[in-house]
Amino acid sequence: MIEQLEAIHTEALQALAGIDSESALEDYRIRFLGKKGALTQVASGMRNVSKEDKPKVGQKLNEVRQAITSAVEQQAADLLAKKDALAAQGIDVTLPGRQPQRGALHPLTQVMDRGIRALRQMGFTLATGPEIETEFHCFDALNTPQDHPARNEKDTFYFGDGNLLRTHTSSVQVRTMETTPPPVRIIAPGSAYRRDEIDATHLSVFSQMEGLYVAEDVSLGDLKGTLESLFRAIFGPKTPVRFRPHFFPFTEPSFEIDIQLQAKDQEPKWIEIAGCGMVDPNVFAQICESRGDDLYDPDRVTGFAFGLGLERLAMIMWGIPDIRLLIENDQRFLKQFA
Ligand code: DAH
Repeated sequence: MIEQLEAIHTEALQALAGIDSESALEDYRIRFLGKKGALTQVASGMRNVSKEDKPKVGQKLNEVRQAITSAVEQQAADLLAKKDALAAQGIDVTLPGRQPQRGALHPLTQVMDRGIRALRQMGFTLATGPEIETEFHCFDALNTPQDHPARNEKDTFYFGDGNLLRTHTSSVQVRTMETTPPPVRIIAPGSAYRRDEIDATHLSVFSQMEGLYVAEDVSLGDLKGTLESLFRAIFGPKTPVRFRPHFFPFTEPSFEIDIQLQAKDQEPKWIEIAGCGMVDPNVFAQICESRGDDLYDPDRVTGFAFGLGLERLAMIMWGIPDIRLLIENDQRFLKQFA
């Protein structure tokens, strides 16, 4: 058997000289070291070797296996080095380097982050809710009656089971109050859906940020102060902010908020930017009914809520003329915000 092993060793060393590719090396390894390879076959004869010869034969077997294994490893390393050297020949070190492509935050993420940062400093925490909503959380609990136009089939994506894609993030207000006792102070950024024809100012999926503050004695003054601070944090400390009376089903009184911006060489312009108001007592009453307690009794707590569209915010902030630019993922556009 020792002779057999020596013969394999010699054969293996000779055969190695002709190996010039990784696949040939793998064939070679299988031929000598594989499960059905030459060495394994000889090794299976070990059980017929006499007891006193076993240590010697065993040692030889290990030696040969070791020798062939390291020869294979060495050859693999040589082949790799050759490949590297070959590849390096094609490289012209005098060419200018290529700029690596750097990633950056999407403009929508940037405005969202700014808004969140400003509101966090005022004690708001993040809240989330599902995008597939019940009619109750999207409409009924928000004092939005059955015949309100927002509930129209033409405006909202309904599922067969009566659920829908939320038309605003205001539904997160309801979910938060259902599960959390007052005081609550939350912001809920997220997607909202409407059956809108897509054009320069509309998408059927867009992003909103909702805010809600409920406690004892929350006043309209708190609402004004908080939102003025928010928009001044985003658009600059001197930005004029005004509140225009409006109607929303879930707040009373309700307002639209405008900010005044001045583009270069142009007259200053008022631009509508958000909706807000004092939470309607009917909303609180509905929450009490859902919760089965009176922690949100409208005689006990008051609150304000607001909602804004993040695409619109980004468009105003950077003068982006078409909302579709924000979803096309065209790097030539996105790079400008890096
Ligand atoms: N949900 C409204 C919308 O989608 C925005 C809004 C207005 C939210 C007033 C509010 C609010 O919380 O108080 O247009």
